[in-house]
Parts: sequence; structure tokens; C-alpha cells
Amino acid sequence: MKKFGVLGFPVKHSLSPLMYNAAFEVCGFEGFYEFCEVEPDDLNCFMKRVKSREYAGLSVTVPYKEKIMEYCDELSDVAKKIGAVNLLYFEKGKLVGDNTDWFGFLTALKEVESDLASKAVLIIGAGGAARACLYALNQVGVKPFLVNRTKSKAMELAEEFLVEVVDFENLPASQVVVNCTSVGLGDSDPCILPEDYLSNGVEVVFDLIYKETPLVLQSRNLGLKLVDAKRMLLWQGVRQFEKFTDIIDVPVDTMWNSIE
Ligand code: ATR
Repeated sequence: MKKFGVLGFPVKHSLSPLMYNAAFEVCGFEGFYEFCEVEPDDLNCFMKRVKSREYAGLSVTVPYKEKIMEYCDELSDVAKKIGAVNLLYFEKGKLVGDNTDWFGFLTALKEVESDLASKAVLIIGAGGAARACLYALNQVGVKPFLVNRTKSKAMELAEEFLVEVVDFENLPASQVVVNCTSVGLGDSDPCILPEDYLSNGVEVVFDLIYKETPLVLQSRNLGLKLVDAKRMLLWQGVRQFEKFTDIIDVPVDTMWNSIE
């Protein structure tokens, strides 16, 4: 039985074990996927276990997506470019760090907006999540607007990715809006964008936070199309499942039904 898991702290809220275990079962794959809730002080020790091949592969989540890179023997080009790892697997005895978040983001967005190339896209945020989204958009030739509370961080990203940095005070019109900040996680957080911006030509809203944030609620009230953040979880997981199992015919519906 091959063992897999999701490494994070905290991580018990993660839906990943449900999703992968359901998929293993339906494929008859001899695998088990568990929570790996590891405190920062225990990370070294845990990674020794990983390197001794206790796990066949791991998903990596907050707060370790960047930190984990120093433990990898190799990094994929994508992981290097995004600067974050959400997948660990072994290849020829080496621990490889890879990233499937960008694919999850892009596939989920395309399900709702099939004509991205003709739309103006606004990305909000300049952390790791924003980097994965910018990488994805660059892959399909989309040059988005980028806005961030700390403008200097957005400017740094502008040197690495194809973007136009803009200000919250003077936002350009856009049809697709993506929230890559943590605003909305807290119960008393405001909506990251004013209502008059949302009601002036925005068509599609994608909040990467898996909950009913003020941005999601307001967008729904305005009748805008919403991308469900769980679809991003699904599609990044589909890519991971392929790596974990070498199964090409991934049971996408089973995975989706387990987390919906
Ligand atoms: P992640 O790796 O998940 O993207 P992160 O690197 O901590 O997380 O990035 C968080 C993002 O949320 C940043 O863009 C941050 O803006 P700053 O660069 O100005 O810190 C943004 N953010 C967090 N709290 C915010 C707030 N109250 N208002 C606006 N943006 C906020």
C-alpha cells in the first residue's frame, strides 16, 4: 500500500484526503492519503521521514509551499518560476518539487470563461497565489492588470510576468476579476472591491478563498458568474493524482463528488 498525504499546518480542514482516497478506491489503486499536520519546528524531522521514502508523494499547502523548496533535490521549471511547490514526488530516487496550482486555476477559470483572450483580467494580490495565477495567464498569452495593497510588490512581479500594475484608486475596467489576497478569510473582512466597480462591466469573479467571502456574496447578488474555488482544488488535484499513480484516466467525477 503506497502512502500519500497533505503537508500543512494547520491542515485538518483540508478536503484533499477525501478527494484522493475516493479516487484511489474507484481505480482499485493500492494507496492511502492522510493528513500530515506538521508544526514548523517538526518540519526537519518530518522531511527526513519523507526522504526515507515513507511517503510515495505529498501535496503541500500553507504555510510550507515556499519553505519546502529547500528540501527538494530537484525543482520543476514551473515550480522555479512560480517560486512555490504544492507537489512532492520521487523520480529516479530524487525528491522533486512541482506545482499544479497554476493548472488548477486556469482550468477552473476556463470552465466559466471560455474566451479569456478577449477579456480584460484584473488580478488582486502579489503573494504566492498571485504568482501561480500570473504564470497560468502568461501561458495562454493573457496580460492582466495587477493591483496590490503594497504596490512595490506588484512592481516586482511586473518584472517577472507580463502584467500592467494599476492602483486601487484608479482601477481600469475589467471583465474578469481574481482575488488572490487573504481579504475575505476573516469574518469581519470587507469586500476587496467596491460594489460600483463590480457592477460596471465585471462578468466573472474568482475568489481563491474556499468560502462565501463578501466578494463572492456581493458578486452573486449582482448576478455575476462565479468560479468555485473548489474547482481549482479539484483540477490541481487531478494533475497530482496523475503523478502519484501514473493513471491517465483520472476519475474526475468521483473526485469532484467527494468534495462538492
Ligand atoms: P499567498 O502566498 O497565499 O498569496 P501572501 O504571500 O501572504 O499569501 O499574500 C497575501 C496577499 O494578500 C498579499 O498580496 C497581501 O498584500 P500586501 O502585499 O500588501 O501584504 C494581500 N493582503 C493581505 N491582507 C490585505 C488587506 N487587508 N488588504 C489588502 N491586501 C491584503
